[in-house]
Amino acid sequence: MQALQDKASEWSGVPTSDAFAVDDSNLFHKLGLQSFVNLSTNFYNRVYDDEEEWFRSIFANSKKEDAIQNQYEFLAQRMGGPPLYSQRRGHPALIARHGPFAVTREAAERWLHHMEQAMNSTREIDEESRIKIMNFLRHTAYFLVAGVGELKNQNQEMHPCRHGAGAHHPC
Ligand code: HEM
Repeated sequence: MQALQDKASEWSGVPTSDAFAVDDSNLFHKLGLQSFVNLSTNFYNRVYDDEEEWFRSIFANSKKEDAIQNQYEFLAQRMGGPPLYSQRRGHPALIARHGPFAVTREAAERWLHHMEQAMNSTREIDEESRIKIMNFLRHTAYFLVAGVGELKNQNQEMHPCRHGAGAHHPC
């Protein structure tokens, strides 16, 4: 896990200490649930309308309303609010849940681009909170690029393995 955190810092340009500055104060109490609802709505409106078909299509199997709810419940919980996400969905397990998607560096940049725009149009989130949340998200996006990449490498290694053939690669 440490190796993934290090990769996330290197690739995102966000030191781990800046990424987790969100934990220094309770941003949920400061901003309130509605701010996260508005942020996620603004974000996914942009994603589902993206002119870049390759990016839009990553979300093709999810309903926009569900994606919005997943996102705002997760963010509210992660920013110090009640565990709305975990109560409904279980452990976030972000790497595993993103396993089916093409979480490349290009996708991370597009995701972050929409998030930055959404953040700018969510006026109730003040400048200082915005910077903290964006640092967390930028770091997490690259944590996912690293983690999902590793998952896929493992699967490739498993692929050529014949059942029971290799002691080091049980399949
Ligand atoms: C879900 C893609 C980054 C948190 C999803 C879904 C897709 C996706 C396609 C399914 C939509 C749904 O049904 O909810 C991506 C891509 C990313 C990215 C391409 C680029 C790096 C992030 C980041 C976070 C995040 C940075 C959090 C900080 C979540 C959460 C869910 C989700 C909480 C809901 C999972 C569930 O409950 O099934 N993402 N995501 N994602 N994503 Fe991401």
